[in-house]
Amino acid sequence: MNKNKKTFYITTPIYYPSGSLHIGHLFSTNLAWVIKNYKTKMNYDVKFLTGSDEHGQKIEKKAKELKMNNQDYVDMQTSKFIDLWNSYQIDYDFFSRTTNNEHKECIIKIFNEMLEKKLIYKGLYKGLYSVEDEEFIPETQAIKKDNNFYHPISNHQLEVIEEESYFFKMKDFTKWISEFFEINPDFIVGQKIMKELKNNFLEHDLNDLSITRISFSWGIPIPSDPKHVVYVWLDALFNYISALGYTQNSKNYIKYWKEGDEIVHVVGKEITRFHCIYWPIFLHSLNLRLPSKILAHGWIITSEGKMSKSKGNVINPLDLLKDFDPEIIKYYFAAKMSIENDNVFEKEFILQTYNSDLVNTIGNLVSRTLAMIHKNFSQSIKFKETNEEHDLFIIKSINHHFDLYINHFDQYNINLAFDAMIELARDLNKYIDLTTPWKLTNNLDRLAIVLNILLNGIYTIAVMLEPVMPNHAKKIQNALNVPSLSFEEIKKMEKFDQILVNKSEIIFPRK
Ligand code: MSP
Repeated sequence: MNKNKKTFYITTPIYYPSGSLHIGHLFSTNLAWVIKNYKTKMNYDVKFLTGSDEHGQKIEKKAKELKMNNQDYVDMQTSKFIDLWNSYQIDYDFFSRTTNNEHKECIIKIFNEMLEKKLIYKGLYKGLYSVEDEEFIPETQAIKKDNNFYHPISNHQLEVIEEESYFFKMKDFTKWISEFFEINPDFIVGQKIMKELKNNFLEHDLNDLSITRISFSWGIPIPSDPKHVVYVWLDALFNYISALGYTQNSKNYIKYWKEGDEIVHVVGKEITRFHCIYWPIFLHSLNLRLPSKILAHGWIITSEGKMSKSKGNVINPLDLLKDFDPEIIKYYFAAKMSIENDNVFEKEFILQTYNSDLVNTIGNLVSRTLAMIHKNFSQSIKFKETNEEHDLFIIKSINHHFDLYINHFDQYNINLAFDAMIELARDLNKYIDLTTPWKLTNNLDRLAIVLNILLNGIYTIAVMLEPVMPNHAKKIQNALNVPSLSFEEIKKMEKFDQILVNKSEIIFPRK
């Protein structure tokens, strides 16, 4: 047991299996996966969850269109998700499915508890609903056009529904959640989103939330009133704890949630209302522990705007794999996409990034350095103290960029962390140009100092690269002939004293 380690639990949204996953989903999952790898490197005891959100009207409709049984349909779709994450070499600890029995038990348990605590009452829902977004929309927020109503963000047409429903007394928690945001200004990564939520939802009282539906049946029925199935968002949010074994009060639940140190949900900005307002309120209402942070990110858009099937601009992540190694794609999404803003995607950006960052900057640095070592030394090269201005500058740069990388990662500025890595690689290439080691072949003492510093720089780059490109980092590690890549070793400049480095294969072949 890793009792001394701090725990870190990170999740992606669980995606609807009503369509294929696109690069927007890949962006979220990759982000969470990279953070998981980083935290593991930081010596946390980490768990990572992804999964699929399998109930609801939209799924029922889709299965009907295909003349399939609902469960067969979600099984088929979910296996495609699993294949996709396998193809991308994205590994996780939990694949959460809301059609699992354990999950259903959890929902029934929490629903009954809510009933017992009188957090729920029966009423009539009259209003607008988006099946595509599985979201109730107040008329004041809907867009009205030609006597029809549309969702204010996704533009999906809204249905007018009038049906019996159970309601959760969300309104009673308006004050609590507003105060919670005041006391925890860092709860949401992305201040813009925090502000929007406050302005859009917390200026007035929250509306009580309809949490059951009766006009379709693909959901978890309430035992005391089984014509009602639980609203898909209440069902979905609790996956984060049902997958850990909440119902059985299991070891995982206690360790990673109840008594866990850090809990982070990665979500796209359009589902922040559910994660930042409803989810903490549900948990608080049941006296359960809250997550530490919601990492809300912007969208990937194409030149025609947000990706959507109707616009025909959806990019399938499997298509990208025909042209690139998965790690190159993962690097692009982690290193070049900002979290706070929307990001325009074009396929050729991946190739541009590969050439500029990986081939010309890191690859070039590694091959130049190792070639010079092989040409001039048959033994390991020892570290010696130096007072040369360029040497002192570059040693400082290694330490500075590594600290920057850690700071950015800890603040969840993932793209900026990788910028720090590339800046360091550029500095190291500049250092080669300034010290001109190819002219030092008759001054091997001086050459040894320069090359030893470069080895230390490359080691640092490999450590920084590892959370997103573990296979490529391993290739660099093999070339350096070091037993491991570790954060703790970075500042120990004498680590290559006993090591004879290997001849490097090309780590990033030119495309
Ligand atoms: N099932 C709900 C989530 C329940 S979580 C308890 C859902 N599913 S979804 O399939 O619609 O996935 C939405 C998520 O996919 C977004 O929050 C985001 O993580 C990701 N993205 C979908 N489109 C995206 C972009 N165009 N850009 C970036 N991320 C996008 O909502």
